[in-house]
Amino acid sequence: MPTTIVEPCTYVIFGATGNLSRRKLMPALYHLECANRLPEGTVILALSRRDWDRNKWVAEVRVMIEAEARGGLDEGIFDRFISRLQYMQGDVNDASTYQNMCSLLDSDNNYPNNAAFYMALRPAEFGMVIEKLKQHGLSDEVHGWRRIVIEKPFGYDLESAQILQKRLHNCLDEHQIYRIDHYLGKGTVQNILVYRFANLLMEPLWNRNYIDHVQITHSETMGIGGRADYYDGAGALRDMIQSHLLQLLTLVAMEPPASMDAESLRDEKVKVLKSIRPISQSAVHATSFRAQYSSGVVNGEKVKSYLDEESIPHSSTTETYAALKLYIDNWRWAGVPFYVRTGKRMAESKSAVSIRFKVPPQHLFRNTQVEKIKPDWLLMGIQPYECVRLEMQVKEPGLEMKTRTTSLDASLREEHEAAYDAYEDLLLDVIEGDRTLFLRYDEVEWAWRVVDPILSVWAMERDYIHTYSAGTWGPQETRRLFEKDDQFWRHSLLPEQE
Ligand code: BG6
Repeated sequence: MPTTIVEPCTYVIFGATGNLSRRKLMPALYHLECANRLPEGTVILALSRRDWDRNKWVAEVRVMIEAEARGGLDEGIFDRFISRLQYMQGDVNDASTYQNMCSLLDSDNNYPNNAAFYMALRPAEFGMVIEKLKQHGLSDEVHGWRRIVIEKPFGYDLESAQILQKRLHNCLDEHQIYRIDHYLGKGTVQNILVYRFANLLMEPLWNRNYIDHVQITHSETMGIGGRADYYDGAGALRDMIQSHLLQLLTLVAMEPPASMDAESLRDEKVKVLKSIRPISQSAVHATSFRAQYSSGVVNGEKVKSYLDEESIPHSSTTETYAALKLYIDNWRWAGVPFYVRTGKRMAESKSAVSIRFKVPPQHLFRNTQVEKIKPDWLLMGIQPYECVRLEMQVKEPGLEMKTRTTSLDASLREEHEAAYDAYEDLLLDVIEGDRTLFLRYDEVEWAWRVVDPILSVWAMERDYIHTYSAGTWGPQETRRLFEKDDQFWRHSLLPEQE
């Protein structure tokens, strides 16, 4: 149960009939209703261009919840939930939309004065909508708080992020801005911090003296779905690495914060991003790799190549796979490579952090049957397999001195404990005013600084891109990123077969 009293608010969803709202936001709000976490009196106001009324919206929400509710839709809870739902038809480009919203919020006592505006819109519209909210006084904190939630991508590169930030800051105070990176709402991602800072055990080992390298992987079997417009302009580096995977990297690499409050945590994350060795344009080839999927077989089904996806130009060299080698130039991590990779249409869907330790300095079992000493690994499964596994070597039972790999498993969730979606946590944090899991602008800016040189070289080299067959782990050539011959991509979270 919440420990603080949380005030009710009007949760306005811009782009309420779009995909994000259908698949994530409305189901997350419903699950918060199930958990009794929506403050009494909270109203959810959907805004969309569609010429619908409240009844039609409620019927649509029912379909969304039926598709996504854990354990199915509960009629009693759903009744309570729909009593909060309101619908407003309006175009975000029209001044009248904001005027109507103003009169509604000002004159109808059923709408709480506190308001959160969730931008489930095209990124190109963020700046314009926020300016219009400001012009109509909707973002002014006169009678209650006003918060704006922005989805990624925050800008398209460093320069556009700076421009967007300027526009936002002309209208809002930083404390009103909630920049979402939904990875930070995942329990398994938060567990990286708990594992590191609630246990003393790993801390002495968590540095360049004991860690050989770190791998951060996000792979998907899915292709680009219906998002050709967005994806072809973005590519894997912007879509996953600049945001989610660099966030994961900061959590793995950061120093213990002074406290767990939002600013202390974000200060430490920014320090990591600032310490990432800048990639000069001449180093781009040695430190990054991109590729695009060709046709192949995924989960037993034939799938088409990226270039054959609907609305993708035949000459596109947008990457659907990206891998980087990064170095964090600070005392803890000097010389330890961080390998980061992501791809669509890969062999499996999986997100994980895999940390390989160095081998012991002396090979004491050299003259026994233990021929090759295996390094220990710490494996943190983010999804779908959630785990923290420490792989170690033990003696095989028997008369010979043979070893095998075993693991210590620290499972996060018992079978009877329900999983929750990242958006539930984040939507609730907005109501509660907790910005710990949201990005501060300097984090976004420093993340762009990391990838910007790569983006500009890739943008210039538009005549060739490596390919990989859909349903595989990506091209072999990506191996060239590894610093040593004995380093390899760790695909599985289970003991690797030699
Ligand atoms: C989104 C990307 O931010 O994250 C998508 O735009 C990607 O391309 C998705 O598929 C992955 O999120 P999750 O939670 O499914 O791992």
